[in-house]
Amino acid sequence: MKILIVYSSLTGNTRKVAEAVYAVLGSEADLFPVETAPPVDAYDFVAVGFWVDKGTADHKTQEYLKTIRGKEVALFATLGAYPDSEHAAASLKNAAALLGDGNHLAGTFICQGKIDPRLIEQFKKTPGNHPHVVTSERLERYKEAAKHPDDNDLQTAQAVFVRLKEEVSRRLTGLQESEVAGSCGKPD
Ligand SMILES: Cc1cc2nc3c(=O)[nH]c(=O)nc-3n(C[C@H](O)[C@H](O)[C@H](O)COP(=O)(O)O)c2cc1C
Repeated sequence: MKILIVYSSLTGNTRKVAEAVYAVLGSEADLFPVETAPPVDAYDFVAVGFWVDKGTADHKTQEYLKTIRGKEVALFATLGAYPDSEHAAASLKNAAALLGDGNHLAGTFICQGKIDPRLIEQFKKTPGNHPHVVTSERLERYKEAAKHPDDNDLQTAQAVFVRLKEEVSRRLTGLQESEVAGSCGKPD
């Protein structure tokens, strides 16, 4: 099974996750930043990693997702919000909705990633009625995000992708077998 891992990363968080996933998927996998990613035609399973931007995939990944058709796909992402938040779930859902026709979403993984300190400084200057106004709760979340992705995140991502690879492989083998059975038909 040929696996393609494509990632988009501004400050390195998503790249770390992509490299950890690549390290466990073995010789069947290729790893590319989204800027130089090849077409997906030659691959069976495509893993796409992005950083969350305004509640969805970053712009470059949005464009890439639209080019994927008829593949087994998994998404992974990093974000400033907590990974078990509604915002995290919605961000994955919004990204998945951009996929082209005929794909099967095999699974997802998301974890926190440190937020660019320049963005936090910008937030600190926003007026009180702005949605990004810095509260003590938000400062706490930024502090937590600054520790991620950590070793535990990377190991969890690896375990998720080892499992997904097995599941996808079983599904593709099953599909091939049912195609062969279908084409032979039953003897009279
Ligand atoms: C312009 C910008 C927009 C962002 N928007 C969101 C967002 O909507 N939700 C969120 O949880 N994090 C958001 N973040 C935080 C990033 O998704 C997070 O820090 C991510 O781990 C960055 O990944 P990278 O290091 O691979 O670029 C934003 C960061 C930037 C710079």
